[in-house]
Amino acid sequence: MLILGIESSCDDTALALLKADEFGPRLLAEHVSSQVNLHIPYGGVVPELAAREHLRALPYLFSKVLQDGGVSQEEIDLIAVTRGPGLKGCLLMGIGFAKGLAVVLGKPVIGVHHIEGHILAPMLESGEGRHGASKPLDFPYLGVCVSGGHTEIHLVEGVGKYSLLSRTIDDAAGEAFDKSAYLLGYAYPGGAALAKVADDARVKFRDRKVQFQLPKVMTESDDFSFSGLKTAISLLVRRQSKGKNSVGVPVIDETLRQELAQVIQESIVGAIAEKVRKAVTRTGVTSVALTGGVSANSRLREVIAGLDRIQLSVVSKVHCTDNAAMIAYVGWKRYNMDGGTSLAFEPLPYWLLEDVGRR
Ligand code: KG4
Ligand code: ZN
Repeated sequence: MLILGIESSCDDTALALLKADEFGPRLLAEHVSSQVNLHIPYGGVVPELAAREHLRALPYLFSKVLQDGGVSQEEIDLIAVTRGPGLKGCLLMGIGFAKGLAVVLGKPVIGVHHIEGHILAPMLESGEGRHGASKPLDFPYLGVCVSGGHTEIHLVEGVGKYSLLSRTIDDAAGEAFDKSAYLLGYAYPGGAALAKVADDARVKFRDRKVQFQLPKVMTESDDFSFSGLKTAISLLVRRQSKGKNSVGVPVIDETLRQELAQVIQESIVGAIAEKVRKAVTRTGVTSVALTGGVSANSRLREVIAGLDRIQLSVVSKVHCTDNAAMIAYVGWKRYNMDGGTSLAFEPLPYWLLEDVGRR
């Protein structure tokens, strides 16, 4: 079976072709077109611009995956597209493209939950899949999705068998990194830049106790909240700043910026690690799969891998960030499980994973 995956829920347009046979799924081709440069001047994703860019990129990426995969569009058996959660206008572009193709080709189309894609992405790489299998990952595991838009921990006992253990009640972990980075003067999305400075600072200030303390992130709850952290950093930066630059960002001393980057990273990483530790204690499951853009953070990997009894799997960079291979994979699994598809589905911008199968 040849599955076309389409992802357009936020600021990445992605298409992938997955071939599934008796040996499992095999990726024939995939492409991701990032819109980061388009949104940098605005300091965040502008939904209307993002939707327009998806519309431009979809046909072009479609031809590219067909060419790279060495297949014709008539060979596609199933079209899987992200139905939600995400930005409505962006989801509509992917869904519209998928439905149009389904009508033209006379093939079924299935709407996929984006977070289900993220938490099953490890299976695409190392479970039953024969491509790129480094170490096998078996159910059950804790699917930790930490990205720019989502922060959720699920107990994953099989395809469609998920229990939510923890979720953010406000900002996502990547958003906390990006907003903090902005306050320190780094361009959007500043998470990786802040992490780099923080890692250097850990080495530089190794023997010295950093003088700042940030509030602990919701230690008593199973859920995350990062908005208090953002307020604390904003106050700290304002108090320590020597005025503002031309775009209104407070100017701070370089050593201070490095120290702050370090405490911010420790605070966000510490919060995620603490919820993972709680999830392990609660479920007894010690296999942890980290997905989402923030899983690129090396300090996060180090701290989680250092937790008692944990076996950590990290998905490759292309499959931990937004991609269409994970959507094709879930589409294939769900099509086999649930059967029939219909063209009559709308985007669900606020869809919860617990509600999959209810609509
Ligand atoms: O999954 P992803 O590519 O897409 C969205 O959810 O949109 O995640 C992107 C997020 C951004 O917030 C980015 O700053 C963050 O992942 N990120 C990082 C690192 N690399 C990317 N955050 C912390 N440390 C990193 N090394
Ligand atoms: Zn995502």
